[in-house]
Amino acid sequence: TADAPPTPTRTAVQSPAPWIVPDGPMRFPSGFTWGAATSAYQVEGSLAADGRTPSVWDTFAARAGTIRDGSNGEPAADQYRRYEEDIGLMASLGLAAYRFSLSWSRIVPTSTGTINSRGIEHYRRMLDALVGRGIRPAITLFHWDLPQWVQDAGGWIQRETADLFAEYAAACFDAFGDVDADWMTLNEPKTHAFVGHWYGAHAPGLRSPDVAAAAVHHQLLAHGRAVERFRLSGAGGRIGIALNLIPVYPTDPDEPEAAWRVDARENRLFLDPILLGTYPEDAVGGESGQLPADPVTFRGQQKSGDLATISAPLDFLAVQYYGVTGVNPGGRETQIAPTSAAPWQQVLPEGLYDLLTRLAADYPAIPLLITENGIPDRSSDVTVDDPERLEFFRAHFQQAARAIDGGVPLEGYYVWSLLDNFEWAEGYTQRWGIVAVDFETQERLPKRSAGFYAEVIAANAVPP
Ligand code: NOJ
Repeated sequence: TADAPPTPTRTAVQSPAPWIVPDGPMRFPSGFTWGAATSAYQVEGSLAADGRTPSVWDTFAARAGTIRDGSNGEPAADQYRRYEEDIGLMASLGLAAYRFSLSWSRIVPTSTGTINSRGIEHYRRMLDALVGRGIRPAITLFHWDLPQWVQDAGGWIQRETADLFAEYAAACFDAFGDVDADWMTLNEPKTHAFVGHWYGAHAPGLRSPDVAAAAVHHQLLAHGRAVERFRLSGAGGRIGIALNLIPVYPTDPDEPEAAWRVDARENRLFLDPILLGTYPEDAVGGESGQLPADPVTFRGQQKSGDLATISAPLDFLAVQYYGVTGVNPGGRETQIAPTSAAPWQQVLPEGLYDLLTRLAADYPAIPLLITENGIPDRSSDVTVDDPERLEFFRAHFQQAARAIDGGVPLEGYYVWSLLDNFEWAEGYTQRWGIVAVDFETQERLPKRSAGFYAEVIAANAVPP
């Protein structure tokens, strides 16, 4: 039932583990993958180039009042045209890998399903340029920019969207399966479902918990179907999914029940079906902390066989870590750590250690990657002076090293982001890059944190 206590065999974290920073460098295993991440709508620009059609983000951003500065994904960081320069920049920082996403509406622009060869050719040129520089691609298939034609057919409310996604994914495996890459099916299905379909602050701007619950299930089904297609395609490389996960600490360790329900909604609603083949019973319903959707309706979306598809074996789990939350016994989310310039982000490096060790304990035997971690600048002006980000990365890298030392199978770390870019509803007012972008001139200016990162990569160690 909804208020059952935590299952005793599973790891409910009660409070952050205390730790004393060592006074020497912390080394990473050889072969550890250091990278940086972006996504198509956030960096590409060229929204009308080569046959691309609009996504839900083009439509959403065109609505008054949706984006803080009234902007959209044009020009963003103009990476559609400047990818060679950017790949040169990556090489100069010593990056071993680059995570980016493919734009579905560049590859399948219309409801006829015809593949747009100009879209394919663009990404082929980019992949060749990366591989030519010895940079391993990490390719996200869906980073929230659903083609508007798919939304017009119902979007993630509809089960059929999972089939459309599997067709698109199969076309990508067919076109790029020769590349040795780490593929990710979906980026943060939770954010897309909750912020896009429940809070209405992201595209497509819907405000219904029941629709959000459908968007959870149909995205996960899409994920599973795409993994099946990946295995059938014989593509090289590996496949996983990128989940944003968050340690949920009860403010009163003697009353953890409400925090455990928030954990169900934020973490286990995604981890359990994908890695265990079951939905948690306590994630959806009317209790504090749950996704307030009708659990009967939610179960009704699920057909027999879906969970077997959703739990198709993965090669790695991609984890996106931004911080922590506290929950009081009444179920209210509470600030327990300092926030960054993004008010939702409570910064606690030790939370990364707790999260990684919990994953290794509760979902054993799957390699882990951190595919996003970062903070925004305090100011929206172009700056290269970012001591807060530099210290943020130092502290988080140390926690990653600590987890590895404790036996966690963490294989790589991608910072968010390579470049300042279009930060969704915040537009260009929040800058998350280790490299600054002047959006007027498109000049790239590495920040101090980029220099620090290059030193960490060169030494394969984080200094104290
Ligand atoms: C997660 C998302 O995947 C990414 O698109 C976003 O820019 C960062 N978090 C920062 O909010």
